[in-house]
Amino acid sequence: MEVKYPPVAASRRKHVAVVPGDGIGLEVIPQAVRVMDSLQAGIEFEVFDIGAERYLATGEAMPDRIFEQLAQADAILLGAIGDPRITDPNYSGQILMGLRSRLDLFANVRPAVLLDDRLSPLADAGRRQVDLVVLRENTEGLYSGQGSRFHPGTPREVAIQDHYNTYAGVTRIIRYAFSIARREVCMADKWNAMPHAGALWQERFWTIAAETPQITARHLMIDAAALHLLQDPSHFDVIVTENAFGDILSDLCAGLAGGLGVAPSANLNPERGQGVFEPVHGSAPDIAGRGIANPVASILTAALALDHLQLGAEANAVRAAVRAAVRARECTTDLGGSLQTDQATDAVISRIGVVG
Ligand code: NAD
Ligand code: IPM
Ligand code: MN
Repeated sequence: MEVKYPPVAASRRKHVAVVPGDGIGLEVIPQAVRVMDSLQAGIEFEVFDIGAERYLATGEAMPDRIFEQLAQADAILLGAIGDPRITDPNYSGQILMGLRSRLDLFANVRPAVLLDDRLSPLADAGRRQVDLVVLRENTEGLYSGQGSRFHPGTPREVAIQDHYNTYAGVTRIIRYAFSIARREVCMADKWNAMPHAGALWQERFWTIAAETPQITARHLMIDAAALHLLQDPSHFDVIVTENAFGDILSDLCAGLAGGLGVAPSANLNPERGQGVFEPVHGSAPDIAGRGIANPVASILTAALALDHLQLGAEANAVRAAVRAAVRARECTTDLGGSLQTDQATDAVISRIGVVG
């Protein structure tokens, strides 16, 4: 996939803000930094201790002065946010949704690539191929945070979660989908049950599709898209969809490509050149602290950050090294290997520059 960015000056050092966050984020993000650092590509890192410990100690999830510093970085590498001790949705809301909306990172690019045939859950070998992008609208839809709650805690309670879609928001994500597609954009929605939002997405999709005749345009209902993906993911290229649908499809596609341990993501504003790079997975409290978390999702996320920093050759070298290590089963247990998190990273670093 080729993602087009406004140029970051090639000559100067690149400044990457690092937010490991919570749980396995604290284990896998340092591994991604090790991989980036091993490239000796003029990248400097600054680590920020945003996460559960700070929130529990101070009540602040994202202090303004830290947000301002993050906003200055050339790229933000983020691990995961979520801690079993914190039940207030405002916590991850302020950090995750806060960064996405305050930096207006409208394009959530979630590539799913099957690194080795053995990682597919599909029985039919002819249909296992996965090399697609879920392009999730990242600032609107069901995640706008708008809505209201009346008579809470009573039998008369009404809870409304607005599904918010703007002409400008839908237009820019669909245009971006066509700009990154190699051959096809499939738009997934639910216009028959959600006619207001559906009408806007349909009109914008087919109008923009007509302006881009070299790319095939296809539409699927979101439920049918889930079924088609499970039956034969090999046909898909770019799937563009609203925020909540994209969240669900991206975990589904991660499952088709080997699981959450291999799924990277980039939150981008391609017009401004800003980006938050985070694996699709969360803080995985069930395995945190044991040294067994798969670093591949974070390393492939680092590769997306390298693309963003105009270090495309380095990004491709990292991806090739990951693929080679995984194929050699020099990986963590979730992928059928027996290595610890740091050893699985060593297996990648030792292959960078060796594999073509
Ligand atoms: P999760 O992604 O943390 O874990 C789901 C399952 O996948 C778990 O069994 C976990 O062990 C496994 N898994 C995930 N990443 C793995 C890796 N790198 N290597 C090996 N196994 C891995 O999702 P969850 O359990 O639903 O959520 C846990 C917490 O993370 C919650 O607080 C949730 O809100 C948060 N979360 C945060 C983000 C984010 O920061 N972007 C994303 C999803 C969930
Ligand atoms: C993701 C996560 C988040 C989301 C949660 C933790 C709010 O699932 O990044 O996919 O839904 O966006
Ligand atoms: Mn998710």
